This record gives sequence, C-alpha cells and structure tokens, in this order.
Amino acid sequence: MKLIDLRSDTLTKPTAGMRKAMYAAEVGDDVYGEDRLVNELQIRVAEMLGKEAGLFVPSGTMSNQLAIKSQTQPGDEVICEYTSHLFTYEGGGPAVLSGVQVHPLKGNHGILDAVQISESIRPKDHHFAQTSLIALENTHNRGGGVVYPLPIIEQISDVAKDHHFTMHLDGARLMNAVIACGVDPSAYAELFDSVSVCFSKGLGAPVGSVLVGSAELIEKAHRFRKMFGGGMRQVGILAAAGHYALDYHIERLAEDHHRARLLAETCNELGVLEDDLSWTQTNIVVLSFPKGNTAQMEAAFMDEGLQVSVVDDQLIRLVTHLDFDDDQLDQSREILKKVLG
Ligand SMILES: Cc1ncc(COP(=O)(O)O)c(C=O)c1O
Repeated sequence: MKLIDLRSDTLTKPTAGMRKAMYAAEVGDDVYGEDRLVNELQIRVAEMLGKEAGLFVPSGTMSNQLAIKSQTQPGDEVICEYTSHLFTYEGGGPAVLSGVQVHPLKGNHGILDAVQISESIRPKDHHFAQTSLIALENTHNRGGGVVYPLPIIEQISDVAKDHHFTMHLDGARLMNAVIACGVDPSAYAELFDSVSVCFSKGLGAPVGSVLVGSAELIEKAHRFRKMFGGGMRQVGILAAAGHYALDYHIERLAEDHHRARLLAETCNELGVLEDDLSWTQTNIVVLSFPKGNTAQMEAAFMDEGLQVSVVDDQLIRLVTHLDFDDDQLDQSREILKKVLG
C-alpha cells in the first residue's frame, strides 16, 4: 500500500525539473561571496519583497533566529504569538542565541491584534525587560495556515513605530498568503524590518530560506550566520532549487489550497473540522477530536494508508503540498469517511 503523506508540506521531494536545475547549477564558494546563483537569489528575493538585501540560510529556524539576534540586545523582550514557530518549535533559540525573553500572547488562530500587543508592552521601568521586537507569522502554521489580514498588520506596525520597535515576519509560508489573498509580497514586507521566506515548505525545494531587510540588518545577520555555523560553500546547487521554486511553484499553491478546501469540506461534513470552513484559508486543515483521542486516530488513519500529523491530544493536522494530487485527494476523502463515518 502506498501511503498518502499529509503530515507536512516540508515532506515534498524535488521534482524532476528542479533536480535538473540543481544538477546543472554553476557553483562557487558562498562564504567567499562567489556563488553567483546564491547572490542572484538573495537579490531576487530582496527585490520581490522590496528590501535592500537578502541572506541565503539553511533553514527557516536559522532565518528567524538571525532576525532576532540582529535586532535585539540580551535582556530585551520579543512579543510573539504563543503557538508561533519561533517560540514553540525552535528549541528555545531566542533565549540561548540572543539572550532575550519571549513574551507570548494568545492569538485567534495565531492572529494577534494591535490592542493586545499595546497592552503587553512593558513600561519603561527598570523592573521590566524592554520590549524591542514584535514577531508575527504569515501564514500561521499552528493557527491552521491562516492568513494575517493586512489591515491588522498595519495597525500592529503603527504600534511598533510609536514605540520604536522593530518588526519581524516569519514568512515561511508567505507565498501561500500571497496566493490566497492576491496581496503583493512587498505589501506585507513593507510593514516589517525583516522577513524570512522558506523554499522548503509549499515551494517544494529540499532546503533553504532567505532573510531580507535593510543592508545594515543583513550585514549583521551575515556575521551571525557565520557565528551560528550557517556559512555554506558550493551552495548554488540549493540556490538553483530556490530559483526553480520561484519560477514554477508559486502560482500552483492555489492547487494545494483548493485540495485543502475539499478535505476541509469532507471533515466538516464528518463533524471533525476544528472550526468553521472560513478558517481553512491555505494548505492546512485542522481536525479536532475529544481529548486524548488523537494517537488512536492517527493509528486508524495509518491503517488505511493516510499519514497525518498529531498536533496535540486534541488536534490533528493535514497539510496539502506539491506531492499530493487529485487521485490522492479522492483516496484521502474516502479514508476520512471510512475512519470517521
Ligand atoms: C512557520 C514556520 N516557520 C519556520 C519554520 C522552520 O523552518 P525549518 O524547518 O526550515 O527550520 C517552519 C517549519 O515548518 C514553520 O512552519
């Protein structure tokens, strides 16, 4: 039985076309700044997002951590959402690598608003850590792939400006937001000092992220990338995958979103969709079960050939991606009905 894997969009394998581009890639030593495809990718992403400069890094985690390190001082406080990737899934990186304290706030499906952020800013008093950075995530992974509404980010950005804070966007799935809403990536990016985008999620590359920002910020991040052990050598092979992903894999995200929507409709009919259909906005579908049932549900799906991701003891996640087609969609819907019907 061939398993259908809906655990994550990070599981995609490079397509034949992408492998060909990687095979043909010219390379140089990127620590010497001599890898043409890396240099072009950094400029390309920076231009897409309307920023001065970009830095190619091995992972979304490193990109987020470099953004924090480059924009804070030890003892500062970073405001973020409590299920955000950089707080939940990055191994305590902000504390270890930047010596900052994270102030996590509970959002609605991962979305924070300007009022709750304003209310959580520390007073200028020597008792408190000083807030200096606000980090948002778009789309919000744990929120169920929800798109951050642009007007809300604008309001948060106004708060940040009033207080002279910087803003970082974890845009690991920014292109999903762009395709879902038709908003230009630069319209999001102009509200942030730094933005991280990943090639290894919905865009289907094996590895790689780019952090963009001002030339000054990226210069700092470049130094910290070296310090964190993220300097890479003949990495044009990976940059070629990034270029290929930008050429061919952005528009097609609409297919992932459509398939996720159809899965969500089935889950809704079966009474297991976490919330109403309006929250399935991109490629992530969240299913909710009575407390303590998810390990058993995971095993039941697996018996039928469907791999799902257990989020916690109540939630299961399905993520559509480049390696999930219409036939697998039909089979998955049948499996959902069989297991849950
Ligand atoms: C929203 C978000 N940010 C950052 C990351 C980290 O990316 P990486 O696995 O490349 O470190 C992920 C990984 O899935 C993610 O979902």
